[in-house]
Amino acid sequence: MATSPAVKTRFTTEDDITAEVLRRFERTPDPRLREIMLSLTKHMHAFAKDVRLNEGEWLKAIEFLTDTGHMCTDKRQEFILLSDTLGVSMLVDLISNGKPPGATESTVFGPFYREGGPEMPAGGNVAEGAEGGTPAIVTGRVLDMDGKPIAGAVLDVWQADPDGLYDSQRPDLEELAMRGIFHSDVEGRYLIRTTRPVHYQIPTDGPVGTMLAATNRHPWRPAHIHFKVTARGYMPLTTHLFDDVDEYLDTDAVFGVKDSLIIKFPLHTTRDEEAVRFGMEPPFCTANYDFVLARD
Ligand code: BEZ
Ligand code: FE
Repeated sequence: MATSPAVKTRFTTEDDITAEVLRRFERTPDPRLREIMLSLTKHMHAFAKDVRLNEGEWLKAIEFLTDTGHMCTDKRQEFILLSDTLGVSMLVDLISNGKPPGATESTVFGPFYREGGPEMPAGGNVAEGAEGGTPAIVTGRVLDMDGKPIAGAVLDVWQADPDGLYDSQRPDLEELAMRGIFHSDVEGRYLIRTTRPVHYQIPTDGPVGTMLAATNRHPWRPAHIHFKVTARGYMPLTTHLFDDVDEYLDTDAVFGVKDSLIIKFPLHTTRDEEAVRFGMEPPFCTANYDFVLARD
């Protein structure tokens, strides 16, 4: 009996295509990569269907991502900024860096960290050479979860200058600035001289700025100081300390604020006890925070 030739089925409907892409990723040998590619396909396709994405819009998205890539240099990371402003950096931070209750919480790393900050003794001035700003003394301890001091912890500190700019945002500045590496003493204590942090705008001269403007979002980050705290045997901590009077605490452009990281920067206007203790001329601010590290 004659058999009819096999009819080849083509995948032409919206759902057929999703199913076929999923089928092709099925045999990915690495199980984690397989899980990620399958989920990415499901969500990307669902998104396109949900908003009824048209060709012009998809091309615009591709151009946006292309511009984002072109904006990146060794001093500028527009993709991190995009991840930050979409809240993905904070989401991944929350997923990856969950700390036990009592340990200091982490927050977004940001694009402005640079290796090789200058090593400083206790009381070293991060803001050496910076003009303006209110001098500030930041003190505290690095402790373990039982409240015991951690000696020799490394505190890598970076901050925007009093004009709200990081060193890498100043084209005329080759050297590192507003950075310092400190070590806790035998009692876990650290002492940093700097300027009171100011709120500042994240860079808006690239595609991320265009996205913020088009969506009626502001680009401000509340005033903060960055810390990367490490000690042998403990989970590394990347975090900020935020100034509690800042007007952008509730609307941080990159969603980085956590209540436990908000501290006071009291202003000293007279030659008080702290002025004498730290050898400071008023006006200046003080701030105090104990970092608590969890064992790794
Ligand atoms: C920062 O705090 O340095 C920062 C974080 C995310 C985006 C831009 C800046
Ligand atoms: Fe910052």
